[in-house]
Amino acid sequence: MFPIEFPLHILRRWAQAGDMVLDPFCGRGTTNFAARLVGLESLGVDSSPVATAITASKLVKVTAEEIVAEAHRILEERTARHIPEGEFWRWAYHANVLDALCRFREAFLDECTTDARIALRGIILGALHGPKQKTFPSYFSNQCPRTYAPKPGYATRFWKSRGLVPESLDVLAVIGRRAKRYYGKVPEGTGTVRLADSRLADTLKPDNPNTRFRWVITSPPYYGMRTYLPDQWLRNWFLGGPDAVDYTNRDQVVHSNPEDFAADLRKVWRNAGNVSAEDAKMVIRFGGISSKRANPLDLIKHSLIDSGWRITTIREAGSATEGKRQADAFLRTKSKPMVEYNVWATRE
Ligand SMILES: C[S@@+](CC[C@H](N)C(=O)[O-])C[C@H]1O[C@@H](n2cnc3c(N)ncnc32)[C@H](O)[C@@H]1O
Repeated sequence: MFPIEFPLHILRRWAQAGDMVLDPFCGRGTTNFAARLVGLESLGVDSSPVATAITASKLVKVTAEEIVAEAHRILEERTARHIPEGEFWRWAYHANVLDALCRFREAFLDECTTDARIALRGIILGALHGPKQKTFPSYFSNQCPRTYAPKPGYATRFWKSRGLVPESLDVLAVIGRRAKRYYGKVPEGTGTVRLADSRLADTLKPDNPNTRFRWVITSPPYYGMRTYLPDQWLRNWFLGGPDAVDYTNRDQVVHSNPEDFAADLRKVWRNAGNVSAEDAKMVIRFGGISSKRANPLDLIKHSLIDSGWRITTIREAGSATEGKRQADAFLRTKSKPMVEYNVWATRE
């Protein structure tokens, strides 16, 4: 996830009123939310259902009160048809909390088209797992990392060995606090998000076929980072996925070797070029992970050859250390800092 300042700075400084913004690897919708903050329309595309559900929740027009009212209604009206069983689930969530989560889950699976439900679903996804807070609870789970879901066996051993028992908490209060924080003021811009594989033709077309994108601001997966979907297995469960880790990497760019990876990115750059204005600009934030020896700059340059885009500037964006990224509440091995680059390109 890149910081909001990255797309926000670019758009504030260079975009003009009426410009359309595209992110073909939108993740949690940082670019889309930045576009919204500056009053621009955007399209975000991602092949992960968790990513698109979170992005969708950043593009709705709804008040905190409407979200809380919808949460009340769902809990009052529904009983859970299915509650996952087993050691992991008993240790991950207090029974009352899991029951509420299942009621929400099933309500959204039946219908999730209103702005209130889309926002509520995003709030619950954000609160599904994370560290215990000293003041008010902010996450539904037992002690967990926020950014990725731990594997069940490991997590259960972690909780058991430390005597960490999941606590009962006021689910509606957690939702209410988050709703106020995130939906206090609704920004002007609008946006759309699409669950699709950006490598495929036509997936990046704007809803209005007479318009073209002036900005493509994006960050593709870094080479070797193939764990987006398995890392999000709990959030994926909440969206209707299986109640166990899903190791498939459906519709994700391939990481088998640098050549194939660059070829996959090239397909996306070509697609983006086909829907962009002649004077469009593309800004790519890209880096590498220390366990992979492939040079990130070589990879990204290679991916842009014959892509319909020409590189104009490459700047170092600093190094993304673990600490800067997100505090790790679990015990994941710290990886070395990695250098990131901002690559600017124009259409050829
Ligand atoms: C580095 S993340 C983007 C993070 C984003 N900038 C943010 O701030 O949240 C890369 C994203 O690319 C998505 N992705 C990978 N392969 C894809 C494909 N073929 N089509 C669409 N999205 C894909 C992943 O699901 C992941 O969300």
